[in-house]
Amino acid sequence: MGIVITVTSGKGGVGKSTTLANLAVGLANEGKKVVAVDFDIGLRNLDMLLGLENRIVYNVIDVMEGKCNLSQALINDKHSKSLYFLPASQTNDKNILDKQKVKELIETLKKEFDIILLDSPAGIEGGFEHAIAFADRALIISTPDVSSVRDADRVIGIIDAKSEKAQKGEEVEKHVIINRIKPEMVERGDMLSIDDVLNILALPLIGVVPDCEKVISSTNLGDPIIRDMKALSGEAYRRISKRILGEDVEFLDLSVKKGFFKRMFA
Ligand SMILES: Nc1ncnc2c1ncn2[C@@H]1O[C@H](COP(=O)(O)OP(=O)(O)OP(=O)(O)O)[C@@H](O)[C@H]1O
Ligand SMILES: [Mg+2]
Repeated sequence: MGIVITVTSGKGGVGKSTTLANLAVGLANEGKKVVAVDFDIGLRNLDMLLGLENRIVYNVIDVMEGKCNLSQALINDKHSKSLYFLPASQTNDKNILDKQKVKELIETLKKEFDIILLDSPAGIEGGFEHAIAFADRALIISTPDVSSVRDADRVIGIIDAKSEKAQKGEEVEKHVIINRIKPEMVERGDMLSIDDVLNILALPLIGVVPDCEKVISSTNLGDPIIRDMKALSGEAYRRISKRILGEDVEFLDLSVKKGFFKRMFA
C-alpha cells in the first residue's frame, strides 16, 4: 500500500507546486513509483512545472466523474518510467470535489503507487480540505516571513483536527520545509531565521531550500531544478527526497560566511 503525502502551506505562492514537482522527480529517482496529483482545481500549473502540459487529455475530475478510467488520465513523465502525473481540471470550480470520490480515487492510487503526492491549493477551503483529508504525511511549506508562517501554523491545526487520521485518533506525520531562504537577509536580521520559523511551528524540519533564480527559470522550462546537479536548490531537493525515505542526510550549510553560498559565490 502506498502512502499519501500532501504538500500544503496555507498562504499562496510560497512554493508548494515547485516543491512537489521536484520531490516527485527526486522520489522517483530514488526508486519509488510516484504519482503527482494536482488538486489545485481550476488553477492547475503542476503540469507546466513537469513539462507535461501538452500531454493532458483527461483530468482528475474526469476520472471521478467516470468520463475516463484512471490509466487514460495518468501521464507518464518524459524522463522517468516510475513517475506519473494526474492533472487538475482547468474549467471546474474547486468545490466540485466530492469527498467519497476523492477517497475512492486515493484508495485506487495507493494500490498502484508507492507514493502519492497531493498538491493542495492556497487557502483552507475546497480543494485544500480534500488534499489533507486522506494524508498519511504532510509537508508544510513556509517561506521565512511572518504571514507565511502564521498561515502554515493555521494549516497544521486544521490537519490535526480534520484529517481522516485525526478523526481516528491517529496523527498525520508532519514536517516543515522552509523555502526561499536568503542567507544574507537572515544574517542581517531582515528575515526570520530557520530557528524562528521552527519555534513557531513546533514541527521537525525536513529541508531548507535557498531562494534561487534557477528555480524560476527551470519552472518556465518545465524541467525541475532537481535534475541540475550544479544548483544548490537542486541539491536541497535531492536531500529532502532522501530524508522523506528515512535517510539521515546532513543539512545544507546556507550560512554566508562559511557555507555552501560562500563557496559557490566567493
Ligand atoms: N526556492 C525558490 N527560489 C526562487 N523562486 C522560487 C522558489 N520556490 C518557488 N519559487 C517561485 O515562486 C513562485 C510560486 O511558486 P509555486 O507556484 O510553486 O507556489 P505555490 O505555493 O504552489 O503557489 P499557489 O499557492 O498559487 O499554488 C514561482 O514563480 C516559483 O518559480
Ligand atoms: Mg501551486
